Amino acid sequence: MRTQVAIIGAGPAGLLLAHLLNKAGIASVVLEQRSRDYVAGRVRAGVLEQVTADLLVSLGIGERMRNEGLVHTGTNIAWGDRLHRIDFSALTGGSTVVVYGQSEVMADLNASADEMGLPVIFGAEQVQLHDLDTARPYVEYDFEGVRRRLDCEFVAGCDGFHGVARASIPASVLKTYEKVYPFGWLGVLAEVPPVNHELIYARHDRGFALASMRSKTRSRYYIQCDLSDRVEDWSDDRVWDEVCVRLGDDVGPSVVRGPSFEKSIAPLRSFVAEPMRWGRLFLAGDAAHIVPPTGAKGLNLAATDVIMLSQALADHYATRSERALDRYSDRALARVWKAERFSWWFTMLTHRFPEDGGFEHRIQSAELDYILSSEAAQRVLAENYVGLPIAD
Ligand code: APR
Ligand code: PHB
Repeated sequence: MRTQVAIIGAGPAGLLLAHLLNKAGIASVVLEQRSRDYVAGRVRAGVLEQVTADLLVSLGIGERMRNEGLVHTGTNIAWGDRLHRIDFSALTGGSTVVVYGQSEVMADLNASADEMGLPVIFGAEQVQLHDLDTARPYVEYDFEGVRRRLDCEFVAGCDGFHGVARASIPASVLKTYEKVYPFGWLGVLAEVPPVNHELIYARHDRGFALASMRSKTRSRYYIQCDLSDRVEDWSDDRVWDEVCVRLGDDVGPSVVRGPSFEKSIAPLRSFVAEPMRWGRLFLAGDAAHIVPPTGAKGLNLAATDVIMLSQALADHYATRSERALDRYSDRALARVWKAERFSWWFTMLTHRFPEDGGFEHRIQSAELDYILSSEAAQRVLAENYVGLPIAD
């Protein structure tokens, strides 16, 4: 088999890229090791920046998001038993975010890929990348028990943090930057109405909590937990009690409780790999970087990476020049690092760090107090939360 771009991974980055390339008239084949149901069913964050929402619309797959997504013009910080609102729209000249779960985005991407006949091969195992530093790279993989070969001109590594693409870049070229946080997030989904019409990020002495949602009848809550905690340690009652306490006296008592139908613990990590290109291989999304979920930047970064990558590939096929391809890594990383900074900062601002003493605690309180009393500081938060522009 032969194509122009071999895309490894059918997560948000891989599928969005396949759609973008198709729109630009560039052929691609997506190779995904897992099943379609497995990939689509993973529970992830659900806040789309304006640029991500616009991307879905421009690809002709924004209809359900427009009908069912919840447009939020602000968010809230609970601290010191009070709720403080950050008004995105007023602070950024009208920008908003859309609350629409990643599993819904995946369902829309897959349905439209089917309709358009985009080649997405699920169950492609033992993927190996070859000759990436030549003009004729190729990919080998097992499918239905047979070893196969896909010849291509470029490879897009959209295979997430544990994929093979980043590992194919020689160690002498790749530089990685990492920060691991000393806690996790316990998340629950429940068929109960959200406690508030917008999200609430809570800083409490017992630790961080987040009240989020998937719809007007389905809630998503998170609480900071110890890395050694297991899901079995957290009965629904214990989760709800903790959520209520951490959200504070203003909102805690209004939380509607119900049985959780998903409960999981995730560690928090910041990670960046540089460069995002080696020869004919280009990395995008979690294959190149991870952010802690505070601020929900993961999916949005994957979307903006592949916007830039598709622009570079389109420019190359139109002009046969290498210029845009040569710029991809620096251009993507410039935006990635700003989102890394914001996600790290928002995590530091709102979580309890076990190693922190009185000094760090006071500094954190002073920063919260400053943000909540300064319009300039709130604008910085709002501008980053709704998403920074894609620079040239
Ligand atoms: N071969 C083929 N596919 C692979 C391989 C491999 N060796 N390794 C991983 N994959 C697939 C995974 O099964 C997964 O479906 O690549 C896909 C990567 O998807 P994500 O991990 O979702 O990464 P990405 O598309 O970059 O999405 C970034 O979405 O899922 C969230 O947390 C993620 O918010 C982040 C954003
Ligand atoms: C979510 O709804 O899953 C969510 C929302 C906002 C975040 C993280 C996760 O910052």
